[in-house]
Amino acid sequence: MPNQFAIVTGGSAGIGLEIARLLARDSYDLLISGSSDKVYEAAAELSKAGVNVTPVQSDLSTPSGTQLLLDAATSSGRAIDLLILNAGIATGGAAFVDMPIEKHLQLIGLNTVSPVMTAHAIVPQMIAKGQGRVMLVSSLSALSPTPFEGVYGPSKAFLTSFGHGLREELAGTGVQITIFQPGATATQFHARAGMHKTEFGDNTWKDNPADVARQAYEALLRGDNVVPGDNGILAQKEAELRSLPEEEKARRHAKRTKPSL
Ligand SMILES: NC(=O)c1ccc[n+]([C@@H]2O[C@H](COP(=O)([O-])OP(=O)(O)OC[C@H]3O[C@@H](n4cnc5c(N)ncnc54)[C@H](OP(=O)(O)O)[C@@H]3O)[C@@H](O)[C@H]2O)c1
Repeated sequence: MPNQFAIVTGGSAGIGLEIARLLARDSYDLLISGSSDKVYEAAAELSKAGVNVTPVQSDLSTPSGTQLLLDAATSSGRAIDLLILNAGIATGGAAFVDMPIEKHLQLIGLNTVSPVMTAHAIVPQMIAKGQGRVMLVSSLSALSPTPFEGVYGPSKAFLTSFGHGLREELAGTGVQITIFQPGATATQFHARAGMHKTEFGDNTWKDNPADVARQAYEALLRGDNVVPGDNGILAQKEAELRSLPEEEKARRHAKRTKPSL
């Protein structure tokens, strides 16, 4: 029996790499992507589990970069059993108007356009096969405005809403959509976003990426709809976010993300 095949965007680092490690352990052949040459190092590590790993270095914030990933998936000749749409960035450390528009557009391209384009290309193959699992890596930030983080929260609200709609459309096709909404996780994510001078500059209080990935992976295999991260604090935070008015959430978020001088 050949191995199953999974694609993990942003599989070269952070949460995506941890999910890819779990998949490699469970004998999935993998196609992983990253924007930097770290993706080759990650592929070399993952292949030590005895699985076939194809690295794709591509900037998914552009449609042509996403097309490169889709072309690599097609060239593999493999049916895709599992698709993890995880690559994403935040932008922080400044107010919306003080960040260049290119940064906002890059984020929208990576966090929203790329997963839509990839799902649109791959889900039909899964429908034709009558099976497949897709995970959209959103965020707890989908539930709140995110002042001083540009359009990050809105991009994740889009992704979560997109996932709920697609899940409903796909009911009965054998194709499952799972939306993953982790809280703050100790990766390079916030440092890359330029949030050093905020509460998020400190990684010590955040969730462990390996734990977060395990929760996500187990929920994906169970077929859960939304994965909030199951530790008590996060569940409590999610309940709180759902009950607060938007302007209060915005005020609270700004206290955590407004950079100190
Ligand atoms: N960390 C958190 O606190 C947190 C919380 C909630 C949700 N999330 C979500 O979880 C996902 C993964 O985040 P993470 O914490 O694992 O981040 P991370 O450690 O920074 O890893 C991000 C991954 O995405 C890739 N990537 C970044 N920009 C890209 C681009 N333009 N084109 C293609 N690939 C690109 C990176 O590849 P390179 O390194 O090669 O660029 C890397 O593999 C994101 O969607 C994020 O929004 C994270």
